[in-house]
Amino acid sequence: MNLLSQTQIQEIRDSVDIVDVISNYVSLTPKGRNYFGICPFHDDNNPSMSVNRDKKIYKCFSCGATGTVFKFIMDYENISFIEAVKKIADMSDININIGNIPKTKNNNKLHEIYDLSLKFYINNINTTGGKEAKQYLYKRGITDEIIKEFQIGLALNGKDTLSKILLKKFNEKDIMKSGLVNKNAYGYLDLFYDRIMFPLYDLNGNIVAYSGRIYNKEDNSKYFNTRETEIFKKGQLLYNYHRAKDAARQKNQIIVMEGFMDVIRAHIINIKNVIATMGTAVTKEQALLIKRMAKEVILCFDGDEAGAKATMACADELIKIGVTPKVIRLEDGMDPDEYITKYGKEFERKIENTMSIMDFKLQYLKKGKNLSNTVDEAKYISEAIKEINKIDDEILKEVTIKKIIEETGLDESIIRNKITPKETQKLQKPKLKEKIKNKPNKYEVAQRNLIYYMLRSPEVINIYNTKITYMPTEEYRMLAREIKIFYTDKGYIKEADLIDSVECDEEVLNAISKVEEANLNENYSIEEIDDYIKAIRDYNVKNEINRLTNKMKDELDPLKKAEIAQKIIDLKKGE
Ligand code: CTP
Ligand code: MN
Repeated sequence: MNLLSQTQIQEIRDSVDIVDVISNYVSLTPKGRNYFGICPFHDDNNPSMSVNRDKKIYKCFSCGATGTVFKFIMDYENISFIEAVKKIADMSDININIGNIPKTKNNNKLHEIYDLSLKFYINNINTTGGKEAKQYLYKRGITDEIIKEFQIGLALNGKDTLSKILLKKFNEKDIMKSGLVNKNAYGYLDLFYDRIMFPLYDLNGNIVAYSGRIYNKEDNSKYFNTRETEIFKKGQLLYNYHRAKDAARQKNQIIVMEGFMDVIRAHIINIKNVIATMGTAVTKEQALLIKRMAKEVILCFDGDEAGAKATMACADELIKIGVTPKVIRLEDGMDPDEYITKYGKEFERKIENTMSIMDFKLQYLKKGKNLSNTVDEAKYISEAIKEINKIDDEILKEVTIKKIIEETGLDESIIRNKITPKETQKLQKPKLKEKIKNKPNKYEVAQRNLIYYMLRSPEVINIYNTKITYMPTEEYRMLAREIKIFYTDKGYIKEADLIDSVECDEEVLNAISKVEEANLNENYSIEEIDDYIKAIRDYNVKNEINRLTNKMKDELDPLKKAEIAQKIIDLKKGE
């Protein structure tokens, strides 16, 4: 429940300038009465997002994302409405006491199961049974302090200790969904035993899975991970995201590594703007998260061949969404964990001396080829051109073309002919097509336009109240109802206040976003409003006639049938 009043929430929102706040995340340029920037909520390279200082609202014309500062922070940082309010309050000097805000959690029993399992594993590592595990960690330079910070625990040798504890408190169905317990003919079995337990977090910092590492025996699987569950979707999260995001924003730099041990090691030398992909191919969703963390993205994967391959794949996923990452390569096939263990702070030198992604790619493509061999050389050139065509950065393109010419002595015009010009690369067209396809019909337009003015004028709300009261389209009906409730309650109407009063409810925002697409004049004429009203009424009447006609067909009682027929005639007269 929300502890703040509507007035307090508005006061907090109005204590900051939406242009200032969003500028912390996206660079904005003024254009007319609005500011424009690249929308962080979909993959885009064009400035489709507009921010209106007076209205205190932003809107993306491409993906439709819309809202007040709170909604922006909610989506950008993946936090709840109240957390976003707190964050904005912290930005200004407003002193509010919201108390301890609970972390964003969907009401899911699995979270409780994980909280309890974590307590259990942490306790284990601190018992005598945990001595060997601790020795292992100490030997790797993981101190008690780090063990505590990263909540590292231990699953002991017992085959069903955790199962028993969980069964006392939770029902079997939920426990089986957690991915921590197995069941066979003889009973319940813990999935993890005899492993050091590294908790994996979701974007909000809730523990949603474990990676268990062997430490006291040989085993062909070094790590064993929780399977995907309702709350654990590997492709949607990044290890250490919740801890790294503030540091990344401050430095405007995020370093992407492969394993969680790498991240923990970086922390030890006080590098905090680090996340890990955890050994799987980076998804588009993860790439979008990375894009939002900071402008400068540095890929620092393992120094071996697999790491180089992963760098190529991750870079391509980022390039597709308009990010040009930089690359760190570590010698002798070392991973960041090994490198930092060996060279310590020297790693900072690596961060200062990154490679451009194209230098890395050229180097990667040259591997195993002999450029004085014609076949190899031709292959190299065509592969390199393919890579150039992927990137947006014009300067980087030019520099790379030059390098290839220098390396191969090839005629410049031959390369130039193969370079796709920028405009044809961008496939913005399908979006436009989609828009035409989804062109709203006349009744939808009438509803949308009427609401557009309801959001701006009490007079129009009053007209709606007396003449319509019912919108045929579900989502407009819902929005009109929200406007009505707000106006009845407050006696005025203001879009930003309405949005915040429903705590940036997704459904309301979607509808508002559609309505704002109308992009009409700020002023209306009464004739115009009457036209909308008439169109909506006609539609309602038509629907009612259809409904009654169907009803009449099914009606067996002749008297009742006649009654319905009369109703239809009356409605048709009124049309
Ligand atoms: N990984 C995994 N399952 C495995 C191996 C690896 O999930 N069987 C993931 C883990 O998230 C791990 C990452 O891939 O952090 C990188 O793997 P690897 O380089 O093999 O692990 P290291 O970080 O080198 O681990 P350690 O130093 O403990 O050997
Ligand atoms: Mn390692």
